[in-house]
Amino acid sequence: MISKQLVKKAVIPAAGLGTRFLPATKAVPKELLPIVDVPTIQIIAEEIARAGIETVILITGRGKSAIEDHFDVHLDLENKLLREGKTELAQRLQETSNIVQIVSVRQQSPRGLGDAVLCARDIIGDEPFVVLLGDDLVDSSVPCTKQMIDVYNKHQKSVVALMEVPPDEISKFGICGGKTISEREIELDIMVEKPAEQDAPSNLAIVGRYILTPRIFELLEQTQPGKAGEIQLTDAMSRLMKEQGFIGYKFQGNRYDAGDRFGYLQANIAYALKRPDIAPKLIDYMRRIVSERS
Ligand code: UTP
Repeated sequence: MISKQLVKKAVIPAAGLGTRFLPATKAVPKELLPIVDVPTIQIIAEEIARAGIETVILITGRGKSAIEDHFDVHLDLENKLLREGKTELAQRLQETSNIVQIVSVRQQSPRGLGDAVLCARDIIGDEPFVVLLGDDLVDSSVPCTKQMIDVYNKHQKSVVALMEVPPDEISKFGICGGKTISEREIELDIMVEKPAEQDAPSNLAIVGRYILTPRIFELLEQTQPGKAGEIQLTDAMSRLMKEQGFIGYKFQGNRYDAGDRFGYLQANIAYALKRPDIAPKLIDYMRRIVSERS
C-alpha cells in the first residue's frame, strides 16, 4: 500500500511589486500593510499555524526584508515595553516571532507567481505543500488551509480554492471548470488564466490557496512566460491537472484581496468588526456617516 504523504510545509510568495497599491507599496511591502493593527502576512502565518503546519518558506525580493524583520525577535523593543509595564504588548510581540518557523528564499526578479513558487523547490523537496498568497486573506472558523488539507488527504490530489465571482470580474482570475463530485468539490478538467468573460468555462475563480504535489516543480521549470510575460502558476497547474487530476474546492469563509485597494478596505472593516475593543465604536461611526450621506 502507498503511504499517504502529509502536507507539512507552506510557501508564501511575497516578492511581487504590488503595483495595484502604489504609491503605498513603493517602499513598504504590501504584505505588511495592516489589517487594523496586524499585518496581512501575519494573519496568513496564523492561519498556517492553526492548520498545524510549522514551517513556512517565504519568497521575498528586493525591498521586502521588513517582512523577515517583522517575524524576527526584537529584544530591545520587548525589554523597553517590559520596563514600562506594557507586558501584554511585549507578549504580543514575542508571539509574533513564534507563530511559525520561517525560511526565506529570494526571488531574483518578480517573474511571476509560477517562478516564485519554483524558488521553494530545494526546501520543499519531494512532498506535497500548501501555497498561500501573501496578500490573500480568508476569514473562517476552520482555517481554509486546514479545510484544503482535509480534501487533499481524502483524494491525494492537488487542490485549489475556488470562489464564485460576478461576470465582470472573471477576466481578473484563473477560472476553472469540471465535474461536481460533492457539495464543495469539483474534479477539474479545465483551468484558464484570466479568460475573457465569453471564453470562461464557469464563474469559479481560483483564489490564493493551493495544495500542490511536487511534480509541479518540473512542470514549472518547463513553463514559458504566459499572460503579462510572467511564468504563470495556472499554466503549470493545468498540466498537472491533466497528469494527476486536480480538485477544486469551494471553501467555507470570506475571502479578501488585501492587495487591492477596495479589498483592503473591506478586510479592515470586516476584521475590525470582529474586535470587541473596536466594533461598537466603528458601528456607531458607520451609522453616523451613512445617515449623514443619505
Ligand atoms: P499578485 O499578482 O497579487 O502580486 O501576486 P503583485 O504582482 O505584487 O501585484 P500587482 O498586480 O502588481 O499589484 C500574488 C502574490 O504573489 C506574489 C505577490 O507578492 C503576492 O503576494 N508574487 C507575485 C511573487 O512572489 N512573485 C512574483 O513574481 C509575482
